[in-house]
Amino acid sequence: MKEQLEGLLQAALKDVDATTSEEALQELRIKYLGKKGALTSIMKGLGSLSVEERPLIGQLANTIKDRLEARIDDALTHAREIKKRERLERERLDVTLPGRRLPRGTRHPITLVIDEVSEIFAGLGFQVAEGPEVELDFYNFEALNFPKDHPARDMQDTFFVDDSVLLRTHTSPVQVRTMLKHTPPVRIISPGTVYRCDSDATHSPMFHQIEGFMVDKGVTFGDLKGILTTFVTQYFGTDIGVRLRPSFFPFTEPSAEVDIACVMCRGKGCRVCKQSGWLEVLGAGMIDPEVYRHVGYDPEAVSGFAFGMGIERIAMLKYGIGDMRLLFDNDLRFLSQFRGECG
Ligand code: FA5
Ligand code: MG
Repeated sequence: MKEQLEGLLQAALKDVDATTSEEALQELRIKYLGKKGALTSIMKGLGSLSVEERPLIGQLANTIKDRLEARIDDALTHAREIKKRERLERERLDVTLPGRRLPRGTRHPITLVIDEVSEIFAGLGFQVAEGPEVELDFYNFEALNFPKDHPARDMQDTFFVDDSVLLRTHTSPVQVRTMLKHTPPVRIISPGTVYRCDSDATHSPMFHQIEGFMVDKGVTFGDLKGILTTFVTQYFGTDIGVRLRPSFFPFTEPSAEVDIACVMCRGKGCRVCKQSGWLEVLGAGMIDPEVYRHVGYDPEAVSGFAFGMGIERIAMLKYGIGDMRLLFDNDLRFLSQFRGECG
């Protein structure tokens, strides 16, 4: 049995020496020292020895066990160390390398226009209000004097959610929401996203408007013209052509549309202005008494104007953009040309 034990020790030491991986070493420990391991199975024969031999062999087995344990532990420590050194080598950092620069974004031209237009109107005493994009038919149409089945509803091709809920087709519902909450005088602008089933070089199914309105005692069409002219000259400069055309909206009377001379062709006529030399940028008018009735204002006591401006059209004119779809393509070569860095 003594020879058996010594043989086992030699074989085990040889195995440990030939092994470098942590997992394989753990397996060796089980193989030689585990409950069903080689040492245990030799020790099962202990009972057949004489009383004198038994303690000697027992002692020898313990010594062998301790030596083997120690040797495996050493080998394990060594294996772990090597693994750690390899990992450190792999993850080596050169702390003297310069950092990578993060690209800086620019503000989207639509955001630029909204911010600059809002700033001009803030200077004229207008406050900003917002409304929901998923809107009730009541605010988008009904309270703005578009009764159900009225042909004027066809002016704005609408995405309906259900019979009474829709994606707002303009920012005008904010007029109703604001007037229901506040008594005159009110002077509000409201930028936001609107939706229509519409798509070509000057129409997008999702676009942006800025609504503006003012209600007080004695507000006239002259005030509307004055405010809009002030805005256009402040934003575009004095040399841009502006014209007011009579128009129709159910919620204003009289109504007008405002055109700005096409900067793409300088008024000669091109694809953007559909050969007319002008681009329509907003609708406007004096708020119809019918709207005041819906919000509880007294049309005998107050009057006011409202306008709704297309932001994409303003951006096209301001920056000379030939196709509205460029504003939504998210092409960085296009977007990075605009100033107004973030951060
Ligand atoms: C309206 O939306 C009215 N709510 C404007 C208004 C407000 C009138 C207050 C009176 C009082 P209109 O449908 O014309 O009107 O749209 C207003 C502006 O939005 C247009 O002049 C145009 O600049 C822009 N616009 C309209 N449809 C689109 C579209 N599909 N894509 C991009 N811009 C558009
Ligand atoms: Mg129009």
